[in-house]
Amino acid sequence: MRVIDSIRDRFSVRKYIAKEVSKEDITAVLEAARFSQSAKNLQDWRFIVVKDKKMRNSLAEAAKGQRFVAEAPVVIACCGIGTDYVMTCGQHSYNIDVAIAMENMVLAAYEMGLGTCWLGAFYEDQVKKLLGIPENDVRVVGLLTLGYSAVKTKIKYRKPLKEIVRYEKWS
Ligand SMILES: Cc1cc2nc3c(=O)[nH]c(=O)nc-3n(C[C@H](O)[C@H](O)[C@H](O)COP(=O)(O)O)c2cc1C
Repeated sequence: MRVIDSIRDRFSVRKYIAKEVSKEDITAVLEAARFSQSAKNLQDWRFIVVKDKKMRNSLAEAAKGQRFVAEAPVVIACCGIGTDYVMTCGQHSYNIDVAIAMENMVLAAYEMGLGTCWLGAFYEDQVKKLLGIPENDVRVVGLLTLGYSAVKTKIKYRKPLKEIVRYEKWS
């Protein structure tokens, strides 16, 4: 599968079949995160892999009741560390670095026949408490569900290039 095909065809999976993801496959997905680029090669990320059903139920509650979080066999809490570091451009590196790693996991999973959904709608304080994540200098950037999709394809809406691209100058 070409990268561009994965990018084009991947979609957010919010319905999963009841099938475990093997340890090897979870590790392969995590390797995609590990090989990601990061600012100054800081690798300022930590990933907590959650398989426990009770914990997934609690995470679903912390994610504003999004039930598919409990139904997916795996949830990965994607955290940033070294959260004080700001790049010259004024952006914190950790959230960008974690986002890149998350997207690489999303694409790797898709290529392996696995579905994912990125979650930003969750109460960070609740997730931290549930997973024993330190209060300071660690942020939960996103949750990622992982499992076998119950849905095969999805029609995606995207803005046309002419709406989102300018050449040479803003206007
Ligand atoms: C930063 C971010 C946060 C998101 N948060 C959620 C979420 O909390 N719940 C959810 O169901 N989908 C969430 N999504 C998935 C988006 O809704 C989805 O990517 C978008 O609608 C495009 O659909 P597609 O992924 O199927 O192409 C999130 C995606 C991103 C990138």
